[in-house]
Amino acid sequence: MKFKISEQIATINPYEPGKPLKEVEREYHLSNVIKLASNENPIGFSPKVYDAVTQNMKDMNRYPDSSAYLLCNAIAEKFHVAPGNIVVGNGSDDIIALLAHGFLNPGDEALMPLPSFLMYEISVKTAKGIPVMVPLTDFSTNLDGIIKKISSKTKLIFITNPFNPTGSIITDDDFTEFLQKIPDDVIIVVDEAYIEFIRNDSVYNSLTHPLQDPRIVTLRTFSKAYGLAGFRVGYGIMDSEIAEILNRIRQPFNVNSLAQVAAVAALDDEVFLNKSIRVTHEGLDFLFAELTDLGINCLPTQSNFLMLDLKI
Ligand SMILES: Cc1ncc(COP(=O)(O)O)c(C=O)c1O
Repeated sequence: MKFKISEQIATINPYEPGKPLKEVEREYHLSNVIKLASNENPIGFSPKVYDAVTQNMKDMNRYPDSSAYLLCNAIAEKFHVAPGNIVVGNGSDDIIALLAHGFLNPGDEALMPLPSFLMYEISVKTAKGIPVMVPLTDFSTNLDGIIKKISSKTKLIFITNPFNPTGSIITDDDFTEFLQKIPDDVIIVVDEAYIEFIRNDSVYNSLTHPLQDPRIVTLRTFSKAYGLAGFRVGYGIMDSEIAEILNRIRQPFNVNSLAQVAAVAALDDEVFLNKSIRVTHEGLDFLFAELTDLGINCLPTQSNFLMLDLKI
């Protein structure tokens, strides 16, 4: 190509999302395909979401509320924080990118497990930062390995809890110990996309005591337990000074009107949320038992997905 692209961006491998169901059905002339990729929620979403979205369709000639006032207030109320501690995104993917752009200068480092959710690496490279990968130990985040890789260039650490793709967790005790070894000027991004599915009480949950440590940025999403992946809504809860930076650089209309309405309605339906979690657990337990009976090794999971060894 005659146009010169950034050296960092040249090294990016594109994110390959799981194929949409309809595309698989079309391509292979199939029907009733069950999609297990992308950790989606097959149950659907709350009927309250459907009603709220239908009612608000008539206002789609207007731009969205750029402050996402109602959504930020609903999240703030749920977690006992102020709206100024919240940043909403077009999925939590969006907030990952905002963090990288807001806090990395060229050459700064962001630590992350290897393998991990590809958007961390893509966002860091897009922001001209350097991703520093720390291989897992025993299919779990290697917290000691991360500590060893901290340097004066480290600005961000990405932690996923529960971990994608293995379903492992970081316990409260282990995280507390880890935190003590992190310098004061490093932001620890705790991505809790799957936290609603945890069944183990010892799991670290950053919103049990929100904003306890100004270095911690919590990421949450409506895509999984709430079943709103297609709407694209995620949010971060963080120190107000960090939120102010992200809000400065985010696109003013990054969360569209229907997505805002859908997320507010979803937060208002605990019955659906509990059903969604219960049905997911039942499905996981069924699959785990049946796969194990077939001689296929599955890792125990605290998420809505299973990692299994097909010995291919
Ligand atoms: C660990 C992790 N973080 C973030 C996301 C992105 O979620 P969202 O749909 O909110 O962008 C995913 C999606 O699969 C994920 O697995």
